[in-house]
Amino acid sequence: MTAWLGPEFPPFLEAMSAPPDVGLRVNTQKISPENFLTRSPFPLRPVPWCPEGFVVTDPTARPGIHPYHEAGLYYLQDPAAMAAALLLDPRPEEWVLDFCAAPGGKTTHLAARMGNRGVLVANEIHPRRARVLAENLDRLGVTNALVVNEAPGRLAERWEGLFDRVLVDAPCSGEGMFGREEAAARDWSEEAVRGCARRQSAILEDAARTVRPGGLLLYATCTFAPEENEGVIARFLKAHPEFDPVELAPHPAFDSGHPEWVGETDPRLRRAVRLWPHRGPGRGHFYALLRRAGGEHPRRPRYTGRLPGRGRALYEAFIRQTLRNAPETGLIFRDGRVYQTVVPPDLWEGLRVFRPGWLLGQVEGTAFVPSRALAMALRPEDVLWAHRLEVDDPAVGAFLRGETIPGPDGVGWVLVTVEEFPLGWARATRRGLRRVAAGAPRPEGGRDGSNKR
Ligand SMILES: C[S@@+](CC[C@H](N)C(=O)[O-])C[C@H]1O[C@@H](n2cnc3c(N)ncnc32)[C@H](O)[C@@H]1O
Repeated sequence: MTAWLGPEFPPFLEAMSAPPDVGLRVNTQKISPENFLTRSPFPLRPVPWCPEGFVVTDPTARPGIHPYHEAGLYYLQDPAAMAAALLLDPRPEEWVLDFCAAPGGKTTHLAARMGNRGVLVANEIHPRRARVLAENLDRLGVTNALVVNEAPGRLAERWEGLFDRVLVDAPCSGEGMFGREEAAARDWSEEAVRGCARRQSAILEDAARTVRPGGLLLYATCTFAPEENEGVIARFLKAHPEFDPVELAPHPAFDSGHPEWVGETDPRLRRAVRLWPHRGPGRGHFYALLRRAGGEHPRRPRYTGRLPGRGRALYEAFIRQTLRNAPETGLIFRDGRVYQTVVPPDLWEGLRVFRPGWLLGQVEGTAFVPSRALAMALRPEDVLWAHRLEVDDPAVGAFLRGETIPGPDGVGWVLVTVEEFPLGWARATRRGLRRVAAGAPRPEGGRDGSNKR
């Protein structure tokens, strides 16, 4: 490292020894950065390469337990990780696949940039992490995602050439996370780096198969190790002449890739970018964007089915009594739950699918219980009954802790909001508003799973 960075080594070391920046990415699906700045409870400094990204400058602030966090107005994310969605640059209506998605920092950013349109498949191999991923997608109001819990090879077999843009945010030795995650430094070894590189190459091989001709593949890591970065990409390019690195227009704070660090001479490796902790906020990342040759679009039917049978009657009764604007097409009923999906079931049936789409709620006995995911993606004007709380009202904390709070009686389901942003569903009872929702998480904040604070 000393030899590679030369005179930049001392500032690099200094940046790595400082407490990590707390990055806050405004969820543009719910609020614009300008609007958020007018009410931000924390002092913020912009992240130079991400218009919706900021650094919280008060070290005593605890943005992970603020009601705005619970309302999904932002996601706590390392500033270097915020570059992924900008580099992959997904468009509304495209099909996008994120191979290594949990806890969901980059997926939720992709969803916001797609304006909740198109198709976003978020895959996570570890079941427990897939659950955290789904909770984060719910909180941020993502409605265009399928959450899948599969090995990359299974996705490659089923979805050959299907996606416009694919992200591989690979499991890595996490050198950029030293000082943030204890395990990263504890588990590091040269053998671990070599093992990571082998696993990354295998994931990249599978991911490449799912990219359509003319489509884009973004490879990312949060480590500095060249074997896991330029080394993996060099090997991939030798085996895949159909892929070519895209020349990025990097921010002045970004460095290029360094082929010479792995004894390679392919000048195209310089088109990759490296983010260093001493050149800008965040702990460092490596990105390489690869375009597949060709340009044919695959045939991708949309699912527009309507809900069959028993689920429909209960769901329709619920929407008549509760919603002004209700999801009506692309509905499916599975294991007692109602989802809205845009992807036809024959494309994903047989895979381990954690969520086939936007979870709207579930049938419990003779009632339909709406989900937190539904609440979090609505606006107060979408429902017949909304109960607005101001951010400093103690009832906000009480509601989030699951306590019954004062409110109207006899109106059925009520959308409780902090200002105009939903926090969840409540049932109006004689004693007040009682929080209920299918799939509600435990009442606590800061569950991004990234930089919890
Ligand atoms: C760097 S993290 C992803 C972070 C995520 N993209 C975000 O922005 O929040 C890498 C993920 O890859 C998953 N993973 C581990 N081994 C894997 C494998 N063999 N294939 C696919 N994913 C794997 C891990 O469980 C982890 O969630």
